[in-house]
Parts: sequence; C-alpha cells; structure tokens
Amino acid sequence: MTSSRNRISKAVIPAAGLGTRFLPATKATPKEMLPVVDKPAIQYVVEEAVTAGLSDVLMITGRNKRPLEDHFDRNYELEEVLRTKGDAAKLTRVQESSDLATMHYVRQGDPRGLGHAVLCAEPHVGDQPFAVLLGDDLIDPRDPLLARMTAVQEEYGGSVIALMEVDPETIHLYGCAAASPTGDDDVVNVADLVEKPTAAEAPSNLAIIGRYVLDPAVFEVLRKTTPGRGGEIQLTDALQALASDPSLGGPVHGVVFRGRRYDTGDRGDYLRAIVRLACEREDLGPDFREWLREYVSKEM
Ligand code: UTP
Repeated sequence: MTSSRNRISKAVIPAAGLGTRFLPATKATPKEMLPVVDKPAIQYVVEEAVTAGLSDVLMITGRNKRPLEDHFDRNYELEEVLRTKGDAAKLTRVQESSDLATMHYVRQGDPRGLGHAVLCAEPHVGDQPFAVLLGDDLIDPRDPLLARMTAVQEEYGGSVIALMEVDPETIHLYGCAAASPTGDDDVVNVADLVEKPTAAEAPSNLAIIGRYVLDPAVFEVLRKTTPGRGGEIQLTDALQALASDPSLGGPVHGVVFRGRRYDTGDRGDYLRAIVRLACEREDLGPDFREWLREYVSKEM
C-alpha cells in the first residue's frame, strides 16, 4: 500500500478524447479549446488547479494537440503587435495563459479511455498522490472544490472523488457512489461505485463529477483493469476496485460538492454555461442580461 506523505503538487488533465458530441467543431480542434465566453474551457481548468496550489500540470493530449500546447505557450508575434499598439489590457490577457503553470504534455496515442489516459501520467506523477481534472466540468471559481479534496486526501489518505447530488431521473448519465457518512458533513465513505445505473439500481443519488485526488496505487489497478464499456479502460472500474479493497491503495472517500458546476461536455449544458457566465461577467453582463431579458420576452 502506498502512503500519502507528500503534499499533492501535480495535476493531470486528460484531453485526448475525441469530443464526438461536438462534431464538426471538434474535427480539427480539441473540444477543450472551445470558448466559454472568451476563454477556452481548458484555461478555466488549469486556473482551478493553480488556485488549489497545483502548478505542475500534465496534460494528456492526442490528435490535434497543437492548439492546446500553443495556448499555454508564448506568442511573441502577437505580443509584439499589441505592445506596439500600446494595448496593455489585451497584452495581459494574451500572457495570462502562458504565465499560469508549469505545463507538461504526454500523448495518449490511441484514445483507449479515461483510465488509459490517467495511466499515461504514471512516469510523470511517480509515487505520490495527484489530482485529475476533466475539462468537461467547469467548477465555478467562487466555489472551490479541489482545495477541499486535497485537504480531505491529506487527512484521510487513499483516494478522494468529487460527488454531486443529482435528480434520480438523471443518475443513469453518471457513475454513482454507494456511500455512508463520516464525521465531516461534506465527506462520505465510498464502498462501491456503479457506472451509469438505472434509477432503480442506483445505490444513491450521488453522481461522480470530474475531479479526483488519487493514490498512485491506482496505476497498478488500471494496468489490471480490463476494457469495459465501449472497449475503453474506465477510471470508474479502477476506483471501484480500490473502494471495494482498501488494502490495494487506502480507502476511497467522496467530497459532496454543493457549489456551481457547468457541464460543458454536453451541447445544451455548454450553451447554458456560456449564458450563465456571460450574465455574471462585470464587463459583458449588464448589456447581455438586458438583451437576454428582451429576447426571452419577445421570442419565447
Ligand atoms: P468523454 O467521455 O467526455 O469522451 O471523456 P470524449 O471523447 O472527450 O467526448 P465525446 O463523448 O466523444 O463527445 C472524458 C474525459 O476523458 C478524456 C477526455 O478528453 C475528457 O476530458 N479522455 C477520454 C481521454 O483523455 N482519453 C480517452 O481515451 C478518453
């Protein structure tokens, strides 16, 4: 069993999926680069990792990786043009993403599932607990989740997953946790995980969302995990093995998140996320809200 002596400092962001729900937009562009208002979704996720104290970021990339790497790199030509124009505000915006974190990249090759993507992080992560953030889930920066998860991992050891109460009618869209309370109001013991159960089969209404803090024992378990749904190596299957046998890598706990989350992997939710975040923006919000109110009253 691996201990969790070291402070968590590394974040892994799998971004090698095919993004088929967003075709044709994702034919030549990673879905993580799709803008949410005026920033690509992936930048919100890297900012979240850095805010939680994880400034060493490993991105798992695949085909069309160039835009992801370029976004977090300097663009001297563009910077020079903005400097010559004296446009300090835009220059700052361009430099923000390249100054954010220490970025590393590894290619997944074939997209053989989220579990396989996480396994690609092993040489970089080594023998210490690490965070995994999925670009599909945007967690509102005002409702910090990851920092709470790393604190829970440091207290309880093992692995920590993020859970959210959902309408039982929608639980079939998620992985679902069988959980029991701990002394902490927002922390549960996870005894079992079921991938996409029907409402009748579901052991709870606690759905797994895309943030994890994992014990490195997960790598050994992933190596032994046979491909599941869709021929892909599923991270939920490996977590299920860890939860049902704590001797493999410590216990699995869940942090129940009650804040604002936007699921941008789905087209409808992606549009809702943009509208909500645009409404809340100080610069764009006032005009946009007024237009939206008028549009809804006239057109709907
Ligand atoms: P999704 O299940 O959303 O798959 O992956 P997808 O391919 O990105 O999207 P659709 O369903 O075809 O539209 C969840 C996360 O796991 C990553 C994705 O990039 C996403 O962040 N992933 C998935 C990988 O990195 N590699 C894989 O082989 C599969």
